[in-house]
Amino acid sequence: MVYNLPAYDIVGTINCDEYKDNFVDLYLAIKKLYQPAYEPNQRILITSTLDFYKESHGLILQSLQTIVNNVDISNYFICFVTTNKNIEQEYAYVLDTYSTDPVPFNIQCIDGEFTRLSGSSIRPYRKINDLDQRNNDIKDLTKKQKDLLFNSKNFCILPWISLSIATDGGVAPCCSYRGDTGDASKDSLKDIWDNSVNQDIRQRMIDDLPVDGCKQCVFEESLGKGSLRTSSNTTFSKYIQIAEKSTTPDYNLKYVDSYYNNLCNLSCRICSHSSSSSWHAPAVATGKIDKSTPVFLKAGRSDTDLYDQIFEQLDNIDRIYFAGGEPLIINDNYKILDELSDRGRYDIELIYNTNMTQNQLKGRSIFDAWKNFTNITIGASLDAEGARANYLRTGTVWEKVVEFRQEMIRLRPDIDFFISCTTSLINAVHVPDFHRSWVEQGLIQPEQFNINALNQPSWLCVNTAPEYLQEQIVEKYQLHLEWLRPLDRHGRASAGFEGIIERLNNTVKFDPQAFWNNILPLDKYYNANLLDNFPELVDLPQ
Ligand SMILES: C[S@@+](CC[C@H](N)C(=O)[O-])C[C@H]1O[C@@H](n2cnc3c(N)ncnc32)[C@H](O)[C@@H]1O
Ligand code: SF4
Repeated sequence: MVYNLPAYDIVGTINCDEYKDNFVDLYLAIKKLYQPAYEPNQRILITSTLDFYKESHGLILQSLQTIVNNVDISNYFICFVTTNKNIEQEYAYVLDTYSTDPVPFNIQCIDGEFTRLSGSSIRPYRKINDLDQRNNDIKDLTKKQKDLLFNSKNFCILPWISLSIATDGGVAPCCSYRGDTGDASKDSLKDIWDNSVNQDIRQRMIDDLPVDGCKQCVFEESLGKGSLRTSSNTTFSKYIQIAEKSTTPDYNLKYVDSYYNNLCNLSCRICSHSSSSSWHAPAVATGKIDKSTPVFLKAGRSDTDLYDQIFEQLDNIDRIYFAGGEPLIINDNYKILDELSDRGRYDIELIYNTNMTQNQLKGRSIFDAWKNFTNITIGASLDAEGARANYLRTGTVWEKVVEFRQEMIRLRPDIDFFISCTTSLINAVHVPDFHRSWVEQGLIQPEQFNINALNQPSWLCVNTAPEYLQEQIVEKYQLHLEWLRPLDRHGRASAGFEGIIERLNNTVKFDPQAFWNNILPLDKYYNANLLDNFPELVDLPQ
């Protein structure tokens, strides 16, 4: 390729043609050239002699623009050299429609052959959780649609687009719903989708009447906070027409919450056998379940039933939430990724809650299975570090967790990663230390920390802390917030710590009997000791 650029200092050159099959690698190549600031004369040179077409503009060009914005490089520092004779017109559209930066790339069209390929099966790079995209979706709504989504007290989009399936076969519109709207051990997901319970829920929501199962969201909103309902109405606003049309929508799943298998390698103190197969032995030994209870729980009318039903819906689905047991050791989840790869569905949103202890299955790395997927979000269930982590989440090898995160930063810096820290009476004092330590080790940015306040079992909740401990927690959290607030751009991490302080206003008396009767038998079973790991609890009443 012969071109004649002004005397720029080129910091790196990327040939777009080499990335036509893999937009994740294009992202990584551009990310490598990222600098917090460029000298006025510095430029990144990007060349292209081919593109894919569905509409009037190239899909690689569109992806490139989205990636440059995503990596947060100003268009000003991009020199785009192409043999595409129509580039001026195409780029004008791409800049107007997809760029968050009004300044254009510096474009040069040069002589040479340009190949136009069919893009019918190509999905351009798109960050689904991109705020600008969401704002765009919302901008185009009618007043009536906005009223339903944002002003109604009871309307939620999820019953029109989503199903959540638990290990006992219980099906609901989402994971926050209290109760079931069907039983996947008996009925197909389609029959459940169409049943009268779900139709009634949808009708009540359209009429803005309260729905019994939606108590959790109502409760959170009553505290002046957002809820799964409010966030889903924003995230999925583009589906509002489905809800407007009918309370018997076509069975086209857009979002699936997959909890239907309890296979897990850990037995976390906060968890139970219904979510973790590794809880079976300790639960039997401590009399929590009968030993005749099966170790492995998997919903569905047969071993492969739910996988088969989800498989059938893969073309419709925009988002899958893999939540366990432990999603990274469940073979079905890898099979789903492979099928999505075969269908070129790299744009699908993959959301995980994972314990971060296993990054491969049967010798296959999860990074291999994730290759090419552009929208991956990881909520890492980590609540403490070092030996404390193994106490809370029995079976954790802490060094492996840290290695996994380091590998993720190295191989997939584009993954939207945050810690989902379940905060209880046991780890409350330690949580700020853990947060700060991960920030100082460069494993997360300060804002990548989400606090999930434990609600069940009640004897383990942070607001049962005795007064002296509450004072310690509040003092420590306030100090931590002084450090955190200036670093926490969107206030997400700060809101978690503030939420715990708020929760302490609603004190429930510490129940020593319930607490120690649950802790000590398990300590004995695991040959562990709470106070060795969390010495700050030494004065808890016995
Ligand atoms: C059941 S786990 C399954 C996915 C995966 N194994 C993990 O731990 O992330 C899903 C999420 O529920 C959280 N969790 C488990 N028991 C909980 C409880 N009693 N209260 C609140 N969250 C809980 C976990 O920390 C995790 O973030
Ligand atoms: S890793 Fe997840 S599913 Fe497994 S025991 Fe812990 S919380 Fe439960």
